[in-house]
Amino acid sequence: ITTEIENRSDELKSLNPVDLYRPVEYALNIGGKRLRPVLLLLSYNLFSDDIKAALPTAVAIEVFHNFTLLHDDIMDKAEVRRNQPTVHKHFNENSAILSGDAMAFLSYQFLLEKKSENLVEIIQLFSKTAIEVCEGQQYDMDFENRLDVTEPEYLNMIRLKTAVLLACSLKAGALLAGATTEVANQLYAYGINLGLAFQLQDDLLDSFGDQKTFGKKIGGDILSNKKTYLIIKALENSSDDLKYNLLNWINKKDFVAEEKIEAVKNIYTQLNIKTLTQQKIDVYFQKAAAILQNIEVSENKKQQLIVLSHQILKRDS
Ligand code: IPE
Ligand code: IPE
Ligand code: MG
Ligand code: MG
Ligand code: MG
Repeated sequence: ITTEIENRSDELKSLNPVDLYRPVEYALNIGGKRLRPVLLLLSYNLFSDDIKAALPTAVAIEVFHNFTLLHDDIMDKAEVRRNQPTVHKHFNENSAILSGDAMAFLSYQFLLEKKSENLVEIIQLFSKTAIEVCEGQQYDMDFENRLDVTEPEYLNMIRLKTAVLLACSLKAGALLAGATTEVANQLYAYGINLGLAFQLQDDLLDSFGDQKTFGKKIGGDILSNKKTYLIIKALENSSDDLKYNLLNWINKKDFVAEEKIEAVKNIYTQLNIKTLTQQKIDVYFQKAAAILQNIEVSENKKQQLIVLSHQILKRDS
């Protein structure tokens, strides 16, 4: 998948106007875990060994994912990703908007490359997913200005902004390989639970990860008052004093970034929020594992998905 993405982005790099395509190439070539295309290929491989045939669809998903990151980084005012300046910082905001738009449509071109009996169904799934990601992103921004976001609201938001794309990758891989709708839907359900765990982990790493391995600035969520699982639990579990303190930091307009991050992390630590979040991550991993166990496909091939989920569970990047 890495080679395929490199080749595809090299082709794009030579297109005109260069200022439209250079940011595309930059975004695709500065790394990333390639989780979604790998999920697609592993899911496809459960039903077919002709993996090469699934590469354009796998590239489509990764290009789409990277498009969302270009726009997300503008919305989140994020300056570093994968240990490099984000596209809107390295180039400029307009570039990140327009090259992002181009990537959204490029992803459809890649998707249309592989003709299959289920192509219409795959495009319908992909489009529905793309709209859901936008819905999730809107909730994510709406919640920045609210203090009463509940755990179910949060879970719905991360299902939309993150989990559906992992689920879509798995389902698209299965459909492309000719799996039945029933099995493809089981893989989708597995992906939703894996995706919820994945975003919970992203929230945890955003506060408690190591910038070098995580590749993003630590504390971004705290600075923009994102309603992560961490802050929702902290608001829920704090005594009056601690809650007053936390609300004070949330409402402060003038502050030194590092001081706010340290103060909020300190409150999290006092409330044992890290453990609480890890427990929630485990719940969704267990749910995902149970769903996968019940899917009737070759145990040997399923093993690859199990290995990948364990790698995700231990991730620090
Ligand atoms: C980042 O996704 C956006 C989230 C949904 C948390 P990844 O953590 O998969 O980012 P890359 O592609 O590996 O950089
Ligand atoms: C990721 O949410 C959701 C999408 C990019 C659609 P985040 O805003 O938490 O992702 P990162 O942390 O910037 O990668
Ligand atoms: Mg975001
Ligand atoms: Mg972000
Ligand atoms: Mg994040």
